Order: sequence, then C-alpha cells, then structure tokens
Amino acid sequence: MFPPADDSPSILVLLLPNATAFSFHLLLLFLAAAFLFFPGGIAWTHRSHIPGPSSLAAAVALSSTTAHRALAALSSSLAANRLMAFSLGFSRFIISSHPETAKEILNSSAFADRPVKESARELLFHRAMGFAPFGEYWRNLRRISSTHLFCPQRIEAFGDRRREIGEWMVEEVRVLMGKQGKVEMKEVLHFGALNNVMMSVFGKKIDFDKGEGIELEKMVREGYELLGILNWADHLPLFRWMDLQGVRRRSRILVGKVNVFVGKIIEEHKMRRRINGFGDFVDVLLDLGKEKISDSDMVAILWEMIFRGTDTVAILLEWILARMVLHPDIQANAQAEIDAYVGKSRVVSDADIPNLHYLQSIVKESLRMHPPGPLLSWARLAIHDVHVGNYFIPAGTTAMVNMWAITHDESIWSDPNEFKPERFLKNHVSIMGSDLRMAPFGSGRRVCPGKAMGLATVHLWLAQLLQSFKWFPSISGVDLSECLKMSLEMKNHLVCCAVHRDP
Ligand code: HEM
Repeated sequence: MFPPADDSPSILVLLLPNATAFSFHLLLLFLAAAFLFFPGGIAWTHRSHIPGPSSLAAAVALSSTTAHRALAALSSSLAANRLMAFSLGFSRFIISSHPETAKEILNSSAFADRPVKESARELLFHRAMGFAPFGEYWRNLRRISSTHLFCPQRIEAFGDRRREIGEWMVEEVRVLMGKQGKVEMKEVLHFGALNNVMMSVFGKKIDFDKGEGIELEKMVREGYELLGILNWADHLPLFRWMDLQGVRRRSRILVGKVNVFVGKIIEEHKMRRRINGFGDFVDVLLDLGKEKISDSDMVAILWEMIFRGTDTVAILLEWILARMVLHPDIQANAQAEIDAYVGKSRVVSDADIPNLHYLQSIVKESLRMHPPGPLLSWARLAIHDVHVGNYFIPAGTTAMVNMWAITHDESIWSDPNEFKPERFLKNHVSIMGSDLRMAPFGSGRRVCPGKAMGLATVHLWLAQLLQSFKWFPSISGVDLSECLKMSLEMKNHLVCCAVHRDP
C-alpha cells in the first residue's frame, strides 16, 4: 500500500497532501535558489561577510576559457579585489586579486595544503610533491629535489645538454622552414621541453622520430587536459560516483600507461646501477630505499616532474615568440644586445645570460602579460581556521590568487596592456616570489621549486632562437587570444616564419 522507504522524493511528493507538497516544492525552490543565486553561494551562507558572486555566476566564470579574466571582472564589479568568496557546489572558495592579501594567503602556514581534485588523485599526484599534504613526506620530497635536482650546481651541470636541445630546436625550425615555408612553434618547443626534463630527471634522451617520444607527448597532453577540466565530481557529491565527465575513466587509462612507461625507466636504472652505480635523480630516489619511497610513489614523483617541467616552459616560450613577431623593434633590440655581448659566430650559452638584461626583461614582461599559471594553477587549502585580513576563513576553504588580475592592475602597473620590456630595465622587480606584484611562480612554502631551472631554460633557448633567426608573421598573422586549460595557452598556436640571420 505504502511506497517503499527508498522511493524517490518525486513519488513521495505525489502522495503527500497538497499543502505539504506545496511547502516541499517551495523548500526545494528555496534550496535551488540558495544554491545558485545567493551571494557567496551555499557553502558560505552561514558565516561570511566577504563579498562574492552567486554560485551560478562563479560557475560560469570558472568554466570560461578565460576564467582569469572573468574572475577579475567579477572581483572588480563587486569591489572585492582584496578578497572575494564563492561556492562551487559544496566547496568553499576565496580568491584574491591584490598583492597584500595574496601575500598573506600564500605565505601563511594555514594555506600550506592543496585541494586534491579527483583527477589529481587518480593520476597519483597526491603522492607527488605538488599535491602531497603538508607534512613530513612532502617536506622530504622538497628537500631531496632541492638538493639533487633544482640546486644551482645541478642546473649549471645541465647547461650543455640544454644548449644541445636548443641547437636541435634551431635545426628543426630550419628544416621545417625549408619544407613548409612556415613553422608551428608549439610542437618544436614541446618536444624540446620534454627532452630537457627527461635529460635532467632521468638522464635519458627521447627520440621523437620513434614511437616512444610521440607516446610520451600524448600522455603529457592528456594529463594536462584532465587536470585542467572543471570536474563537477569535485564539488557535488552526487556527481562523484557517476563520473559524468569521464574524468575518472580517462585518468585510469592514462595512469596504466604512466605506470608502464615510468616503471620501465625505474627498472632500467636498477639494472644499470648494478653495473656502474650512476647517479641521477632516479638513483637518488632509489637510494632512499623502499621503506621511505615505494615503487608506486616513485612513479608518481617522476611522472610529476615530466609533467610540470614540460608545458609551462613550452607555453611561455610560445607567448614570447609571438610577442617577438608582433614587435619587430623589440626583437631587433634583443638581437642587437646578443650581437654586442656574444657576437654572431659564437653560440650563446648560460654564461652569457647575466649580461643580456634586455632579453631578461622580455621574459619578465611576457610572464607579466601572459603568466602560464594566471590563477597560479595550483590552489591552496586551509588546513585550519584562519583569518585573512578581518575575515574568518574556515578550515577546508580553497584559496586562489588571481595573478593575472594583479599583473594587469593599472593602479600597480602603468599601461598594463602594453608590452614594454623597458619597464623592468628601469625598475627591478623580483619575480621569484618575494614581491607579490608579480609572482608567476607563486610564493611561500609551496612556491615553484623548478623556477630557476625553468627560467634558465627559457632564457637560453630564447637567446639561441633570436641569435639564429629573424622572426616574421606567417600569412595567418598572430592571434593573441587565450585559452586557459591547466596553463594559459595560445588559443590558436603560433605559426610564423623564421629567416636565418646572416653570420
Ligand atoms: C616557466 C616555468 C614555470 C612556471 C611559470 C611555474 C609555475 C608554478 C606555480 C605558479 C606553482 C604553484 C606555486 C604556489 O602554490 O605558490 C608551481 C608549483 C610547482 N612547480 Fe612550477 N612552474 C614552472 C616550471 C617548473 C619546472 C621546470 C618544474 C620541474 C621540473 C616545476 C615543478 C613544480 C612543482 C613540483 C610544484 C609544486 C610545489 C609544491 O607544491 O610544493 N615547475 N609552479
């Protein structure tokens, strides 16, 4: 006679007396409105006075391919540059577009954790440095990688390999120009950056003419795509088991391939160590022993390095070259500087970079205008209750910094939408995390550990590419439209022409 206890609410409502059904619908309507339209959203309704948009407006902004711009517009329309609050489903967020508040968040020990998305967990990243919870395991990983991978001596030791890869890219550009009369730079840069990481982490060169390199490239691309998706399963419990966006399914397929690929490299190292006891980063991890780092942790740690070191460098260089094509006068100034300090016959090297101030300013200005991580990509999570300014932030809140909004704020930067490298010649601005007017590598405990390595690579390759070629637009021109995935990419990749400079 009576419906079973687990019947759906709609059937229940049909059987309820009319007045009760009406109140039930009203309640549902109220909850839906609270969910979608209340300022700050449902996760904030009970205790915050932080200004913020409705969940609907926040979801629309975050799903946009230019989420950094949409969030910046929301913050300024609500006069919430210092701090804005919103909800996505049941997840609570704050975002700052102001250097002082950004510093407070990034340098606070309360925000030393990261929220682990479903994709990150499925792709093993919670066992790697970037998503490992703040604690002993994470601290050990940071210490080991700072000593054995990212320290200045190690970066210097890899200078010749970096230069060889730069020369390979120059040759690749020359060949492609000969064949096609134009060159799509993203592919060349991506392969170069991937090989650079493979050399510095695994001591291994990947051959891109063979299947292995192509397969690895595809794996990195797929990983980036998966981590960049706004996955509703992270914010709405109902979506968690349904995997409507297919993130879990795709992550599991990818992680199977990663296990095979990285597992094979680890096995090769184990074999080689028995013969000649060689010492690269994989050997360092192996030396720690299985009780400290298991084989599966090792796969996660090494996979993260391949993953992180590749795209950011390739994407930044693509933006810089687009700027060089668009601003021939700035390109010519950089080439004149290289000619003055290095000459035309000697190939530029790491040792020349400290003299190339204008070139360094071009890199800084590109990081300001096109930061690869405009929302710093890797959000932080409040480990415990904390105050930001006068606002109470409960534990479990995700904190973001809109670095793009800060580097485009006209109260901080004059002519923020103009590409002017000279601004950095006149005023020294540190970009390594101490000055939050421009911190493209983040700041505080979880600042990017690969920043010096990333910059060394970008400086050297840019110098090599500018020393070798004059860069011109192709017939399709240069389109600076952006597309924010995991990093801020060019929506239409740069296709340009490179003409060899006279010796
Ligand atoms: C242009 C190049 C790069 C940019 C713009 C960049 C940017 C960033 C940013 C914004 C963060 C988050 C920092 C924070 O939360 O405060 C980060 C974290 C990280 N980056 Fe980079 N990065 C670059 C190159 C690299 C390279 C070459 C590697 C390694 C091979 C690397 C490895 C990492 C790791 C492991 C983390 C996580 C650190 C942690 O959570 O403890 N990055 N990066």
